[in-house]
Amino acid sequence: MNGHAMLEARGVTVRFGGLTAVDGVSAAFAAGELVGIIGPNGAGKTTFFNTLSGVQRPSSGDLYAHGRRLTGAGPHRYAAQGIARTFQTPRVFAELSVLENIEFGLEFAGRGRQASWLLKDAPSILHLIGLAAQAELPAATITPSQQRLLEIGMALATRPRLLLLDEVAAGLTESEVDAMAQLIRRLRDELDLTVIWIEHAVTTLLRYVERVIVLHQGRKIADGTPAEVVRHAEVIEAYLGDEMAEAA
Ligand SMILES: Nc1ncnc2c1ncn2[C@@H]1O[C@H](COP(=O)(O)OP(=O)(O)O)[C@@H](O)[C@H]1O
Ligand SMILES: [Mg+2]
Repeated sequence: MNGHAMLEARGVTVRFGGLTAVDGVSAAFAAGELVGIIGPNGAGKTTFFNTLSGVQRPSSGDLYAHGRRLTGAGPHRYAAQGIARTFQTPRVFAELSVLENIEFGLEFAGRGRQASWLLKDAPSILHLIGLAAQAELPAATITPSQQRLLEIGMALATRPRLLLLDEVAAGLTESEVDAMAQLIRRLRDELDLTVIWIEHAVTTLLRYVERVIVLHQGRKIADGTPAEVVRHAEVIEAYLGDEMAEAA
């Protein structure tokens, strides 16, 4: 890799008491990459994400952004490096309108940062994520898939360089999942973002990412192109046989 990775984990381990949720995971993410992280429930995907966004301090191992060590710093330091994330359970302000939720994100974090004109103000962001028609609705009244979009919009309002998405397609219909995948690709392309996308359901994800990391019981068992990973013996054996075969 030329120069420093946008974000790099080196030997990251997270223990909760006797349980090792993330076990010595190393991975580097280059500018502009769209990388998927897959694995069964409990594989450590969210916990690994939490270390990448500074929400969880690793028990051992290190995080670097552009070669700068960030281990142990708070989430604001990660945000200052342009790292933004969504949560597996959407965290929107239910009583505020869709537009006000985006404005909150802009006020809170985004204004001071340089941004693409696509992110210049809250209406632009709503347009980009396809929620312009819902701008005035209370966030509580929009559909679950629209709430996922809104959460992505709130992350974009911080004007990130790297976007971490935790199961943004969970619970969506098949056509909504495809629309979400297309949006994620478009955001990466048009905003020049690095995107790391966790999904439990892998079939759609494998069609859209260029690289996929597989976690199993906290360990990274594969890291390669979707075509490589679906042929990986340990991956197939571990748990994904049927679904992976279908995707291939
Ligand atoms: N805060 C926590 N305290 C204790 N155990 C946790 C905590 N967060 C996650 N775990 C455990 O760590 C493992 C990995 O969880 P998680 O990272 O949420 O997996 P995934 O996102 O892949 O489903 C699971 O066994 C889970 O129960
Ligand atoms: Mg999770």
